[in-house]
Amino acid sequence: MHIFDQKKELDSFLQKERNKNHTVGLVPTMGALHQGHLSLVKTALTENDLVVVSIFVNPTQFDKKDDLEKYPKNLEQDFNLLKSVSKHIIVFTPSTDEIYGNSIKSKPYQFDGLDKVMEGEFREGHFDGVGTIVELFLKTVSPTKAYFGEKDFQQLQIIRKMVESKNLPYQIIGCPIEREPNGLAMSSRNERLSKKVRQEASFIYNTLLTAKTKFGTESAYNIREWVKSQFEQNTFMKLEYFEIADEDTLTPMLKKQIDRKYRAFIAVYANDVRLIDNLRLN
Ligand code: PAF
Repeated sequence: MHIFDQKKELDSFLQKERNKNHTVGLVPTMGALHQGHLSLVKTALTENDLVVVSIFVNPTQFDKKDDLEKYPKNLEQDFNLLKSVSKHIIVFTPSTDEIYGNSIKSKPYQFDGLDKVMEGEFREGHFDGVGTIVELFLKTVSPTKAYFGEKDFQQLQIIRKMVESKNLPYQIIGCPIEREPNGLAMSSRNERLSKKVRQEASFIYNTLLTAKTKFGTESAYNIREWVKSQFEQNTFMKLEYFEIADEDTLTPMLKKQIDRKYRAFIAVYANDVRLIDNLRLN
């Protein structure tokens, strides 16, 4: 496994690989790797000769300083996990300085309103930060394909939009959510939950599953109200939002249209840990 922290060195390594006609996949991460990340890496390894895994906790996508500071970091363990998967992995772990120099700022983007709802409403500037870093990693690595988890479904759609609107020659691949045995969506943030709360957090996925059942017969309004009432009775978790939205436009569903695909999206605080999840409804 090769590890680089400088863009220049990574670039000259990848140039040589491309000269040998080797294809390159990219899996961008913020580290604290878990099985969800590893499943992205494994998919990428089946479709490319080499896979670059970037590990970088991107400061410009955090709207709260506290959240950035508490974001779990475990580089040694990340390296060991990746080594156990394959020797065809290249890790890119740049410093903040290498990426941003002395101007830690994001660029402004137009995402056609995809960034104005749900996560965008509650995390100001978040998607400009994501756009900035993902565009930079895509251009640095120049992969044929880049892989993102569907747990951050809104992020995935926004990255697709960015690549399409800027005509960037990379394929964006969405991969299914990996779940813990109790249904909780895998996330680096789960490490910050107590054992008890981590168990109780199965409530999030169970609520989504019931919402899916209700979707067959009830209105989006009724389902939203039902979810709110469920969380009002839950002492471990506080609901930030629950939305049923169109998969492509991410606009909230008002009236069901048979030719559209819908998803339920949820954000919850479990103590001070913010968790998100989503589930396809039809
Ligand atoms: O999903 C994430 O972990 C991050 O938002 C990403 C895509 C690595 C960009 O920092």
